[in-house]
Amino acid sequence: MGDRRRKAFDGPVDISWLDRADPDRRDLDGVAAIIEASREADYPQELARTVPVLRAGLRHGWSSTPIHTAVARQGHRVVGVLEMELPAWDNTHTGNTEINVDPLLRRRGIGTRLFAEATDRMRRENRTLILAESWDLPASSGFCKAMGLERASEEIQRRQDVLAVDWDRLGVLYAGAEAKAAGYELVRIPGDVPEDLMPAIVELTAAINDAPTDDLQIEDEKFSPERLRAAEVAQVAAGRRQYRLVARERATGVLAGHTVLAVDVDHPWHGWQYDTSVLRTHRGHRLGLLLKIGMMRWLQDAEPQLRAVNTWNAGSNDHMIAVNELLGFRIVASATAWQRKLA
Ligand SMILES: CC(C)(COP(=O)(O)OP(=O)(O)OC[C@H]1O[C@@H](n2cnc3c(N)ncnc32)[C@H](O)[C@@H]1OP(=O)(O)O)[C@@H](O)C(=O)NCCC(=O)NCCS
Repeated sequence: MGDRRRKAFDGPVDISWLDRADPDRRDLDGVAAIIEASREADYPQELARTVPVLRAGLRHGWSSTPIHTAVARQGHRVVGVLEMELPAWDNTHTGNTEINVDPLLRRRGIGTRLFAEATDRMRRENRTLILAESWDLPASSGFCKAMGLERASEEIQRRQDVLAVDWDRLGVLYAGAEAKAAGYELVRIPGDVPEDLMPAIVELTAAINDAPTDDLQIEDEKFSPERLRAAEVAQVAAGRRQYRLVARERATGVLAGHTVLAVDVDHPWHGWQYDTSVLRTHRGHRLGLLLKIGMMRWLQDAEPQLRAVNTWNAGSNDHMIAVNELLGFRIVASATAWQRKLA
């Protein structure tokens, strides 16, 4: 890029927060443009974030924590974006941040300005631990270190090529799992959780707290029917169809485990794997494998256009990773979760 082009973008930068209920159209489009430019430059394996999804995120978040968004502007043009979640259900000492800066305008201090805005906002909200996740790329890691953040956990992104799945092999694995899980049956729950199953699903959701969080100074997440309903609203607002497969113990009717996956209307070829968890007392029956293959079978029918499923695991989550590798998930990227205490 020539110096002339660089200079054309130079100028004072203003930062302001978007109105979450009624964001300025140009600002929201600017957010989409910057995130898209960053995606193309830095993490092209990710899906684009569309304006409707950004709008839904401002109101509802991706699950149940709304995303506060600030923009850095030069004139009217958005040149950098700060997104921040301020958890309310638990972990109220934390704030999660993500910053994206126009690839044409990096190393000019815009990221640093947005990070300062994030720490100011957190202090105003009485939050003491700032969290960030970054791709394992030189700019992202270099920036996080420069902001005084410390590495707390390694996260690995894996993707399954649905069309390359060896169904014969999976059939053998499934039969083996079924034999060990003879006391359980699978129940399909598309969309919202029925009211009568809600308490059991809350308990299953809370089992995700057993997944490793490494050095992150966070507490267990707290789940409630209200929170799960808020997450359902967020899914619908973001245009996601949700599928939940549950393992039920035949003898007692107890819900022992579940796996959840969503497909969004704008990218119907792509599935987002959410939680898979099995209650501690029901582990050792291959329910994790049974649930995940059971989900793949369901989706062949319900979402036959699917080509890829995306999943994230902590690098230390050996058990879940072993199941995912068996199902043909392969590493596509890695990221780091960072944290810093605010004085
Ligand atoms: C990371 C990112 C936000 C940095 O934005 P930026 O406006 O270029 O950041 P700044 O100019 O304020 O840089 C501050 C410091 O970070 C470090 N840094 C930034 N880019 C770096 C790079 N490419 N390599 C090494 N260190 C880097 C440097 O210490 C830099 O200070 P210096 O320029 O005086 O050496 C930007 O590269 C980006 O949008 N990346 C994609 C999204 C992302 O990874 N976000 C981070 C996770 S929250």
